Amino acid sequence: RPALSVASECAPLVKTGGLADVVGALPAALQPEGWALRTLLPGYRAVLAQCDGAAPVLWLDDLFGGPARVLAVTLGGLDLLILDAPHLFDREGSPYLDASGNDWVDNDLRFAALSFVGAQIAAEGLGGWQPELVHLHDWQAALVPEYLRSYAHDVPTILTIHNIAFHGLTGYERLAAMRLDPERFTPEGFEYYGHISALKAGLMGATKLTTVSPSYARELETPAFGMGLDGVIRSRRADLSGILNGIDTAVWNPETDPMIRPFRTPRGKAANRAALCADFGLSPDVPGPLAVVVSRLSGQKGLDLLLDALPALTDRGGQLALLGAGARPLENAWLAAARDMPGVSVRIGYDEALSHRMYAGADAVLVPSRFEPCGLTQLYALRYGAVPVVAQTGGLADTVIHANDAALRRGVATGLTHAPGDAAALRHALTHLCDLYATPGIWTTLQRNAMKQPVDWTASSPQYARLYNNLTGSA
Ligand code: ADP
Ligand code: GLC
Repeated sequence: RPALSVASECAPLVKTGGLADVVGALPAALQPEGWALRTLLPGYRAVLAQCDGAAPVLWLDDLFGGPARVLAVTLGGLDLLILDAPHLFDREGSPYLDASGNDWVDNDLRFAALSFVGAQIAAEGLGGWQPELVHLHDWQAALVPEYLRSYAHDVPTILTIHNIAFHGLTGYERLAAMRLDPERFTPEGFEYYGHISALKAGLMGATKLTTVSPSYARELETPAFGMGLDGVIRSRRADLSGILNGIDTAVWNPETDPMIRPFRTPRGKAANRAALCADFGLSPDVPGPLAVVVSRLSGQKGLDLLLDALPALTDRGGQLALLGAGARPLENAWLAAARDMPGVSVRIGYDEALSHRMYAGADAVLVPSRFEPCGLTQLYALRYGAVPVVAQTGGLADTVIHANDAALRRGVATGLTHAPGDAAALRHALTHLCDLYATPGIWTTLQRNAMKQPVDWTASSPQYARLYNNLTGSA
């Protein structure tokens, strides 16, 4: 059955974080459930460069200040609709930032345009193809329900909240340019304290809401996690569910991954570990664990706390390799740590292949987030036999079983958890990590348990399918 997915990123074409992985994996996850997703994506310059043979299927004379087309193309099993609007998307830079790292000043318009076209396709179909529902991802797609109001055709919508920290806020004066209805600029519509909020439009207007873990669904109702939208979330409690992300185990498979030295058992990691040490200029022969971080460098991820806690690892002969990019002050702080602390090595940048080698070679993966809607890095860690050490929050809490004595005895422990936002708790977790690493029987068991934990879409696909079926009248 046909459905339309609308998002600003989709792996492997364009990725800045986990959103892309999930949007890219959902079509294959839902296909066995009888749903065929087409994914509508902005035609960024880097995306168009990968879309040889794309055929135009829709033309718009004036999409918010310029002509636009929708191109259809199938790539790596994904059925894509690319919004080719050169005045909005044909630029050098990332999906959201210009070359100097600032938000594009017209991000409001760029993603309003994506939503506008998503609504048009949902309501009018495309050459006879008519989606039964529209699945929206984050604020960049969240204006779809608003634009759908001007059509007679009633298409159900699902908005998935991947991260409520980003609201897509913009000024009231942009209303006309965004072709929004001024009458709807109210607290019941898309107004947020005098601003236009794209995310709020979706939270209020979508037929159903989901987020990417059960714990985050509960956390979102609280002021500490709701980021100013907890009231809206509470008002829609009955329509919100938390469905855990899976990972694409065809891409993330340590036995077949072409970017690593493939392995089946924890012992098989050794060659990857040695290569990773060499790559980062670290020693393969120190007594402590090799921990890694692969992350956006933003306040969310708690990596400032890790800077404070690091001696708990390095004093015990542990080492850390970090790959990340983002906020300049954090990048600089980490580069300084790498200069000053033996056993700490840092790579600033974004490097997909290196990330695979890091999960494969690591003894442990650290994810000390202050909040984490789901988190995928701990799932890759589990699959690649790297023990996750994570903050007890959101999806991290839902996917890692802490190695306390009972869990170790019962053979279910897969990692370590610690209180979020607390450098002392993180320090304690790193000490615990070093203790476990020094106990060979226990350490290998932990790695084996980790590798056995299911992290694919098997559990979550039917939950999405149930939601889809309920919304459309199940077949
Ligand atoms: P978020 O989406 O909040 O950044 P997730 O854990 O859901 O967090 O997903 C992050 C994804 O981005 C993972 O696939 C991770 O491997 C990848 N990633 C993050 N930073 C980098 C980087 N610097 N280089 C390569 N991959 C990265
Ligand atoms: C967001 C969240 C992350 C989640 C990802 C995919 O980027 O920060 O926790 O895993 O979306 O849903």
